[in-house]
Amino acid sequence: MTLDEKIGQMTQIRHFDEDAEKAITNKLIGSIIHTDGPAPGEDAKAWQGKFTELQKLALSTRLGIPLLFGVDAVHGQNTYNGATIFPHNIGLGATRNAELVEQIAEITAIESQATGFNWVFSPCVAIPYNEKWGRVYEAFAEDVELTANLTKASVQGHQGDLSKSNTVMATAKHYIGDGATDYGIEGGKTSLSELEISEQLMKPYSEAVKAGVGSVMASFNKVSDIPMHAHKRLITDSLKIGMGFDGIMVSDWKGYSKYGENAIIDAGIDMVMAVDGDMDDFHIGIKRGLENDSISIDRINDAVKRILRQKYRLGLFNNPFPDTTLVSKIGIKAHRDVARQAVRESMVLLKNNNQTLPLSKDLKKIVVVGEHADNAGLQSGGWTIAWQGVTENYDGATTILDGFKQQTNTEIIYDETALEQHPDADVAVIVIGETPYAEFFGDIGGEMDRYQLTLTEAHQNYINHYKNQGVKVVVILISGRPLVTTQQIEQSDAFVAAWLPGSEGHGIAEVLFGDYNFKGTLPHSWPKNEEDFEGLFGPNFWDNSIEPLFEYGFGLNY
Ligand code: IFM
Repeated sequence: MTLDEKIGQMTQIRHFDEDAEKAITNKLIGSIIHTDGPAPGEDAKAWQGKFTELQKLALSTRLGIPLLFGVDAVHGQNTYNGATIFPHNIGLGATRNAELVEQIAEITAIESQATGFNWVFSPCVAIPYNEKWGRVYEAFAEDVELTANLTKASVQGHQGDLSKSNTVMATAKHYIGDGATDYGIEGGKTSLSELEISEQLMKPYSEAVKAGVGSVMASFNKVSDIPMHAHKRLITDSLKIGMGFDGIMVSDWKGYSKYGENAIIDAGIDMVMAVDGDMDDFHIGIKRGLENDSISIDRINDAVKRILRQKYRLGLFNNPFPDTTLVSKIGIKAHRDVARQAVRESMVLLKNNNQTLPLSKDLKKIVVVGEHADNAGLQSGGWTIAWQGVTENYDGATTILDGFKQQTNTEIIYDETALEQHPDADVAVIVIGETPYAEFFGDIGGEMDRYQLTLTEAHQNYINHYKNQGVKVVVILISGRPLVTTQQIEQSDAFVAAWLPGSEGHGIAEVLFGDYNFKGTLPHSWPKNEEDFEGLFGPNFWDNSIEPLFEYGFGLNY
């Protein structure tokens, strides 16, 4: 291979980059990423068609090396409108069900391949130390053992027999310390020492490596004041040499422009994400690095070898194109049934006074309250259809209100913003919580913007409004993390943490009406006071003098 061909393999560009075709033929790139932005076509067939065209172009070049197509399918193939969308990982942590996590990853692989992708940037195996971090919901739990166990299941489920057309390469991310930064700042610095990092955060990675994970993504945070992208000790010495990781170390978005291509490649990054389409700066930078010895040709050769090895393992040299028969599997009932099971198993019952739950199907009148009750976007969180999530319904999803209507013939009134009077109602089911957000939340512009972990005044008023009418109140909290809800729990008759359930809202009604029991237990300790978050790592791990409202693992049932 020429040097240009090697550098080409080490680059990943965005699929909607206007120079994509030119980059494939002139620069022989290794991979294309789709996250957000214009869709590759109108439907799955068109997405596959577009990627097939690009693959053909890659195969027509001198060496004919197939491309990797990567996507942020982090709770199902969540970039495709109509795919099955599962609860975010925090909800899967609450299920404690590794078999289910494996099944979910298998389905995600099928629906990702059905839209043309052979690589997913999932699972996130972070251990969140501070719920102020805006990516808590992408991680399974605060507990490293549980996270390691579910990571293994997820990698196995995604990758199965990697050479088959219905499996994808998985990515353990973000290596390492992403969730353990001081004050929970995304991309901030962590005060944990390298020893503490290896003792407290490494196990999910070692499990992922043992399960054969094809790629690991570097994190934007710093450890020992060194950006993780340039942390040779932790990437090359610990992960690659120490744990025997022989797959692709991929950067996060444009990591090269933040830290310099030579520094990150020398540290052990093999492929660089989202390089601009003309790629000139990137190529020139690497050549300069070789000339001035800031990187070696051996390092380049090693990176290319890792990329080609994964392409072989994926079977791309024999079978480079997406399997068209998979298109018919997107969002099918069998997949949605698994998602619905995950919703049921993820819900955690925190309070149930006087057996308010389960609701009888013979009640006379139920009021369902709150905009989150009838909005699939709000119930699904970030990384749903769009990067930052959406605030409207999307194809094939069932809202929580839909689920209620399917469960019972009782009169169901929907009071979206708690303005109506229904003193004769048997119960008000109030669905409230966070609106969708994704990475950078809490650190926009590099300034720490401390997110309040409390509900809004409007949401508090929903509860007051029905309590004042003398109606029993059941709260369903939709959130990507525990919130400080001490007062609302006190006021309500029953309180349920439903996390971010995804497309199958009726799973919630099935448990509330007692068709199924509650099974979920807390994947995080539940905080009592906002002031408890003053320390670097929030109240959960380091300061045993602060008591949570509910301990890790708490969960009631019928
Ligand atoms: O995979 C993601 C990562 O989790 C955060 N930054 C962008 C990547 C690609 O979208």
